[in-house]
Amino acid sequence: MQPDELVALFDQQAPGYDPQWARTAAIRDCLYQLLDPLLSDLREDARVLCVGVGTGQELAHLATTFPHWQFVAPDPSGAMIDACRARAEAEGFAARCRFHHGFLDSLPPAAPFDAATCFLVSQFIVDRSRRVRFFADIAARLRPGGLLASSDLACDTASPAYAVLLPAWMRMMATAEVSPEALQRIREAYARDVAVLPPQDVAAILEAGGFDAPVPFFQAGLIHAWVSRTPA
Ligand SMILES: C[S@@+](CC[C@H](N)C(=O)[O-])C[C@H]1O[C@@H](n2cnc3c(N)ncnc32)[C@H](O)[C@@H]1O
Repeated sequence: MQPDELVALFDQQAPGYDPQWARTAAIRDCLYQLLDPLLSDLREDARVLCVGVGTGQELAHLATTFPHWQFVAPDPSGAMIDACRARAEAEGFAARCRFHHGFLDSLPPAAPFDAATCFLVSQFIVDRSRRVRFFADIAARLRPGGLLASSDLACDTASPAYAVLLPAWMRMMATAEVSPEALQRIREAYARDVAVLPPQDVAAILEAGGFDAPVPFFQAGLIHAWVSRTPA
């Protein structure tokens, strides 16, 4: 997908994004439960970059759990940023956030961040070298030894496991029966617009982007998550 197509897609998805992903709340809660202790060593007033913040799911969780952290939250979709800002205002943590409408490379320079999150974003960068550069751009904004928590859909799509996991994933996300035709459409869309790679390939991309030995700390269905650090 070209950047403008991606932005249009997420602008269009923004109003329905939270209801659509409501069915994965238990997965998110579990991911966050495992994430919190990995982040709890950060200083009390840590500065955290939430890349591809969307409607603010992980931002809202972190802002509530760590009440003195400051956040910078970029997203190229204006509708997503608007939804995120509205949530932050409604839930009372907007004063600790700076929202940025744009891709990461348009974010004004700032002091190095203590940590970054990047949940379900890099999978939309299909070109491997661009995906490496995307992580390198995050690494460049972290202090030495800075921490990145990231997640992506990951699976070996040529494996028999994918033939089992994808239909189960789609049924879990769907509110109605998933027809074989719908499943085929989703399979094609994933193959075209979403870089669902084997988990070890995603880890290799993180390393190529400048992160030391990514540690897989979570997996549920097609979602895999890693915690990585920039060199100390
Ligand atoms: C699936 S949503 C995930 C949102 C949020 N992180 C979450 O877990 O709910 C992906 C978000 O990443 C944004 N995005 C897509 N490509 C991006 C890129 N190259 N850089 C930054 N954000 C991007 C989209 O606009 C969208 O808001």
